[in-house]
Amino acid sequence: MLKGKKIVLGITGGIAAYKAAELTRALIKEGAQVRVIMTKNATEFISPLTLQTLSNNIVYTEMYLPSEQYDMAHIALAEFADAFVIAPATGNIIGKIASGIADDLLSTTIMAAVKPTLICPAMNDKMLANPIVQENINKLKNYKYIIMESGVGELACKTKGAGRLPEIPEIVEEIERLLTPQNLAGEKILITAGPTEEPLDPVRFITNLSSGKMGYALAKVARRHGAQVTLITGPTNLSLPSVENIIKVRTAQEMHKAVIDNYKKSTVIIKAAAVADYRPKIFVKEKIKKDNKPRAIELERNPDIIAEIGQNKKNIVLVGFAMETKNLLANAREKLKKKNMDLIVANSLREEGAGFQTDTNKITIIDREGDVQSLPVMTKIEAAEKILEKVEELLKKKGGSKK
Ligand code: CTP
Repeated sequence: MLKGKKIVLGITGGIAAYKAAELTRALIKEGAQVRVIMTKNATEFISPLTLQTLSNNIVYTEMYLPSEQYDMAHIALAEFADAFVIAPATGNIIGKIASGIADDLLSTTIMAAVKPTLICPAMNDKMLANPIVQENINKLKNYKYIIMESGVGELACKTKGAGRLPEIPEIVEEIERLLTPQNLAGEKILITAGPTEEPLDPVRFITNLSSGKMGYALAKVARRHGAQVTLITGPTNLSLPSVENIIKVRTAQEMHKAVIDNYKKSTVIIKAAAVADYRPKIFVKEKIKKDNKPRAIELERNPDIIAEIGQNKKNIVLVGFAMETKNLLANAREKLKKKNMDLIVANSLREEGAGFQTDTNKITIIDREGDVQSLPVMTKIEAAEKILEKVEELLKKKGGSKK
């Protein structure tokens, strides 16, 4: 989603400078155009040639350029960018920006910058904890610079503590967020995702093929648009999106409890989880041993979470999913009505590009007024954008969101 976005990446002189290569690569992969400025100290840690190769552009290291490159000087770079990122940001560059010092190309460009600027501190834990550094960070926050929290873990100096560069996917996600219109700011969105597991004994359970990808994409995109997101997730193999609140559950009953405990604060609820409709009636505490007799598993109904919310919701936009193998639209319409949803997202397991484990989906969005939006195959992130566009439209219509 960074397609066509112009990013100026500033790299300063810390050991994490080598990770800026991976960041550049990730940004280019997302479709961004990247121009790199390196401080003199940064070039001691990583070669400008590496960044030049990865960004497909010359790397700027000098304040005073030959006249033929004049139009590429600090003002041009400041005007070129949709966003600025400094990663890693040393205590030194943070101090310089906070004090209004501009004595090299990076600090001068940042002084001239008017677009959003993301600063990713990375330094020794004691340096980060230094009250002067902390004061500088707070000062920058007050001036609307966006400062990422440093990671906690092993540092290059062999100590453990805060000061690691945030993980690259987290930085990329933060850049996505700061370039996305905050049109869902103030909304509290509860999203369920993934499958549930219904245990038979300590080693066996009944589940389904849901990967959680659609629900996680919704959580990510909702956050990008400024919403406060609570993600209630069944077991998945995905890395967790960085949202305000994550509740991990296993069974449908646990998911039911988590939703009931949390939904009243929400303005929007999106139930993307594939909840098991049934669970084994008896959970056997010890592992079930085999014998030669035939076996049957007796099942009992799980609570229908979305139906319960549908009965009780007041001013909440309720979005459900319907995964079908036949009669997609008719079944989806019936579920929308029966469970009192505002919107249903229908997808067929029979369609190419749709389904549980894929990175793409082919969805049809249906609202209560019968409006049907049939969309082509797209990534789950793009599908999430479309669903949230429609959610925003409904929020506006209701006019009573809890903003
Ligand atoms: N759902 C739920 N609780 C359940 C089962 C489903 O909240 N116990 C939600 C799902 O998260 C989804 C919607 O209901 O948003 C539709 O789920 P689906 O399983 O397709 O529908 P069912 O009504 O269970 O119908 P069926 O299984 O008969 O197709």
